[in-house]
Amino acid sequence: MDVEALKKEAGEAACAYVRSGMKVGLGTGSTVKYTILELGRRVREEGLDIVGVPTSIATKTLAVEVGIPLADLDDLPGLDVVIDGTDEFDPSFQLIKGGGAALLREKVVAQASKRMVVVADDRKRVDVLGAFPLPIEITPFSHNTTRRSIESVLECKVVMREDSGVLLQTDNGNLIADAHTGASITDPEATETALLALAGVVQVGLFNNMCDVVVLASSSGVKTLEKKV
Ligand code: A5P
Repeated sequence: MDVEALKKEAGEAACAYVRSGMKVGLGTGSTVKYTILELGRRVREEGLDIVGVPTSIATKTLAVEVGIPLADLDDLPGLDVVIDGTDEFDPSFQLIKGGGAALLREKVVAQASKRMVVVADDRKRVDVLGAFPLPIEITPFSHNTTRRSIESVLECKVVMREDSGVLLQTDNGNLIADAHTGASITDPEATETALLALAGVVQVGLFNNMCDVVVLASSSGVKTLEKKV
């Protein structure tokens, strides 16, 4: 089975976690795109009654296109569920996110949600986080100073993310530094704390203790993995 087919299977299967009346965080990326397309279809064709909160400008555009009614997080008391993709997840359901540069809004929305459902294909499952370079959102001001400080903290190479030869700007006007730690993040909570202590760091792409369910697609079908408590 090709990767795109797996993404579609996982993305669509996660719609099982959404019912009429829910306020739903809409994640960002090429897997959760399939969730958003399917939710839009159910809104249009089956009368599914939900309100969505997008985690990026790209997701907002897609959600509007497919007809999902949207609201500002500030105008809601909280969300029932957020469905989002991931770049990696470990056996404790700690995540690396931000491959699509949307980590800050994704984390704000995840923290406002009662439940986080992650959609993934089995390439995202790892024993130890970090083979995927860790995305860190940093301020444009003195970004090379912050980048070097991150290198000192993590003892690895840190590369500013570019798009067509220029520094990539996030939806929040910040930059992304990608830390090439290798698969060595054995204590993601300590790593997040150490990075957040740097003044230029706005947010870290480690999503610790947030994910409750992984809807995982592999060539043997879709499995729902629940976090062990
Ligand atoms: C966006 O910033 C990311 O956190 C994505 O959710 C993550 O990169 C997974 O994206 P894909 O589903 O496209 O792999």
